[in-house]
This record gives sequence, C-alpha cells and structure tokens, in this order.
Amino acid sequence: MKLNLMLLGAGLAAVGEAADKLKVMWLGDSITEITCWRPQVWTQLVAANLTGSIQMVGSMTDTPANCQKPAGFDSHHEGHSGYQAYDVAKQYIAGWVKNTKPDIVQFMLGTNDVNIGKRDQNAIVDAYTSILASLRAANPNVYVIIDKMIPTQWSDKTIEAVNTAIPGWAQQHSTTQSPITVADPSRAAGMTNDMLRSDKVHPNDKGDTFIAKAIGPTLVKVIQEKLKAVA
Ligand SMILES: *[C@@H]1O[C@H](CO)[C@@H](O)[C@H](O)[C@H]1NC(C)=O
Repeated sequence: MKLNLMLLGAGLAAVGEAADKLKVMWLGDSITEITCWRPQVWTQLVAANLTGSIQMVGSMTDTPANCQKPAGFDSHHEGHSGYQAYDVAKQYIAGWVKNTKPDIVQFMLGTNDVNIGKRDQNAIVDAYTSILASLRAANPNVYVIIDKMIPTQWSDKTIEAVNTAIPGWAQQHSTTQSPITVADPSRAAGMTNDMLRSDKVHPNDKGDTFIAKAIGPTLVKVIQEKLKAVA
C-alpha cells in the first residue's frame, strides 16, 4: 500500500513537471528528419537558457549519427522522409498532435509535394491551412512557425511561388491567441546551391548551418513570447 502511494506520488510529480514545460514540435519531411540543423538549433536554445523550459515532442527520435549533438539534446521530432504536406494534412497530423498537443510547432513541408506529388502552389498552401486547423483543434493556443522551403538546385518555380505566398498566408491566418511567424531559410534569404548535397535537395553541412542560423533565432523568440504569455 505504501509502495503504491509512493508510485502514485512519483507519477504525479512527473506529470506536474511535464505540464510546466512548453511542448515544442519540429514537423517536416526528410529535411527535418535526416539532417543536422535540429541539434544546432538546440545549441541556440541552450545559449538562450530555454532548454529547461521546453520539451520537444513527436513520435520520431532518430537523428543522423554524424550530427554533433550537444549534451541534453532532445531528439523528439515529427520529421518523416518522403512525406508530402498534402498527406500530412489529410492523414497524419491530427493523430500526431492528438496526445502531444504541442504549444509551439515549427514546420517546413512541401518539397515532396513538388518533387514527388507534382502538386501546384494552391494545393500546398491549402495543405498548410488544413495542418493549421488540426494544430489548433489539438491546442487552440498553439504558436506556429512556418519555415519557407529551402531551394532545390534547379530552383523549382513552385517552391519559390509557395515561398512568396507564405507571408500573406501567415498574416491571413495569424491570431492573437494563435500567432503565426515566418522563418526564412529560402534561396531569397541566401541559401545557395553549394549548401545542398549531391542529390540537389537536402542540405549538406553548410546548408544545415545556414538553416539553423536562419530559423533558430525565430524559434528562440517565439518560445520567449509563449513563456511570457503563459506566465
Ligand atoms: C534559466 O532558466 C531557468 C528556468 O528554466 C531559470 O530558473 C534561471 O533563472 C535562468 N537563468 C538565467 C541566468 O536566466
């Protein structure tokens, strides 16, 4: 009996601790899953003294073996190689956020819609809107960061059209309760072909560093804003 009570007490303490931390989700495709920018952004979160206030959430925990991982790196994410925004919106996102209910979601999606699905700009932006609805259904107070897509080496026109549409989309859907912020690792922001691997789609080491510098400070800022909002 005493043991049961002790276990109950430990369980409650664990729940209390988890509930105090902001739940942050990185959502994307292989550009999120099989790359090294996540541990690099984590280093920025350490420098900003934010890692004690957050917990990464997501059903995935893999990170490439060659990435330099800072001590305490939280490897949880929702990056799925090959996935299209269209399918994430229709089949997956509601289930992924049902239990985790993230407070902050940072996502980059659409590259596979272009390269594999051959979808157009409107289909991709519609998928973003649908994903946003699922995030808000799970947590009406979710803060969202949408990352513009990194370029392919052949400078795909649809990718650039979606990137051009993203700020207007964010403004249209942003609310005080659930604000949307844009982070920009696009070609227009300075990502160049020598930052891509030989597959011409995924970032190499230089690309990972560029992405981390382009999107990490936005995550730092949004976490700080969300901490103020819940204080
Ligand atoms: C760092 O964050 C923790 C909360 O996780 C806080 O208690 C502490 O005061 C912060 N340290 C500094 C130097 O701001």
